[in-house]
Amino acid sequence: MSKWVRAHTNIALIKYWGKENEEFIIPKNNSLSLTLDAFYTDSKVTFDSSLKEDQLILDGEKQDSIALKKVSTILDIVRDKADFTDFALVESINYVPTAAGLASSASGLAALAGAASAAAGLNLSSKELSRLARRGSGSASRSIYGGFVEWEKGTNDETSFAHPIDNADWDIGMLFIIVKQAKKDVSSRDGMQRTVATSPFYDGWLATLDQDLTDIKISIAEQSINKVGAIAERNALKMHATTLGAQPPFTYWTADSMLAMEAVRTLRKEGYSVYFTMDAGPNVKVICKQSEMSKIKKALMSYFDEEQIISAKPGPGIQVLENE
Ligand code: PMV
Repeated sequence: MSKWVRAHTNIALIKYWGKENEEFIIPKNNSLSLTLDAFYTDSKVTFDSSLKEDQLILDGEKQDSIALKKVSTILDIVRDKADFTDFALVESINYVPTAAGLASSASGLAALAGAASAAAGLNLSSKELSRLARRGSGSASRSIYGGFVEWEKGTNDETSFAHPIDNADWDIGMLFIIVKQAKKDVSSRDGMQRTVATSPFYDGWLATLDQDLTDIKISIAEQSINKVGAIAERNALKMHATTLGAQPPFTYWTADSMLAMEAVRTLRKEGYSVYFTMDAGPNVKVICKQSEMSKIKKALMSYFDEEQIISAKPGPGIQVLENE
C-alpha cells in the first residue's frame, strides 16, 4: 500500500570513503554517523501498470533521467523481490531549511527504500531496508536508524548493512555552517572512485580507521563530547587529505570552509567543546554540546550570517507517516 515514509539525514563522524564493489556499494571501511532531526525527506511510491517509465517528482518538480538513476536502482530491486514489473510514481519532499542548498541523498534514498517496499507490500526488516537503501547511496544505509549508527562494511550484499549503536540521548548536537558554493561539485561517487584509484594517501587513510572506530565507540559510551568531537575531526581531515593526493588532485574545501574551520578552532581555544567535520562539499558541520548550541551559534555569527547557521539535534530512524 502507498504510504508516506520519512527518513532523516545523517552525518558521518567516521567517514565512508571508497568502495570495494561499485555495483553493490560495498564500502572499503566501516563508517559511523549521527542521524539528525533538522533535515529529512518524505517519500511516497505508487506502482501503476499504466505508467510507461518511472517518474520522480521532487518538491513538486518532475526530475530528469539522471536524477532518476539511483531511484530506479532501488525500484528495480523492489520489483524483482515482489515479482512484478509495474513502473512507479515517486513523490518526494525534501525538508531542508531555506537556502541551505543541502540536497541529501542519505535521507532521500532511505525514505525511498521504505516507501517502495511498503508500496510493494514487502514486509522488510530494518536490516533489509538498510541493505536496500545502501544500493541507492551508501550513506542512506545509516539513515534507517536514529542516533549513532554504524555501517558494517561486510563482504557482500547480504552482510553489508547498518545497525544502531547508541540513541544519542545525551548532550550532543550539530550546527551546520552553509557556506557559499564557489565551484562545481565532484560528486561523492566520483570523488571516492578517483581517490581509491590514484591517491597514494588512500592506504594511509584505511590503515588508521579501525583505531578511529574503536576510539569513537568507547567515547560515545562515555558520552564524552570532547573525545567524540576530536576523533571525528581528525577522521574528516584524513579523508579530505586523500583527495589532495588524487590524480588529478581536488578538494571540497573553499575559502569559506577554511574560515569556518578556523572559527571552530578559535572557539575551542576560548573554552567551548567544538569540533568540525566535512563531507563531499564545502559546508562545515560543527559537533558541540546541545546545551551550548545557542551560545556557539551567536559566536559563529561574527563570521557568518545567521541564515547560514542551522542547529540540529539527534534525530529518529525511518517512520511510516500515518493518515496521510
Ligand atoms: O553515500 P554517498 O555516496 O553520498 O557518500 C557519502 C560520502 C561522505 O558523505 C563523504 C561520507 C559519509 O560517510 O557520509
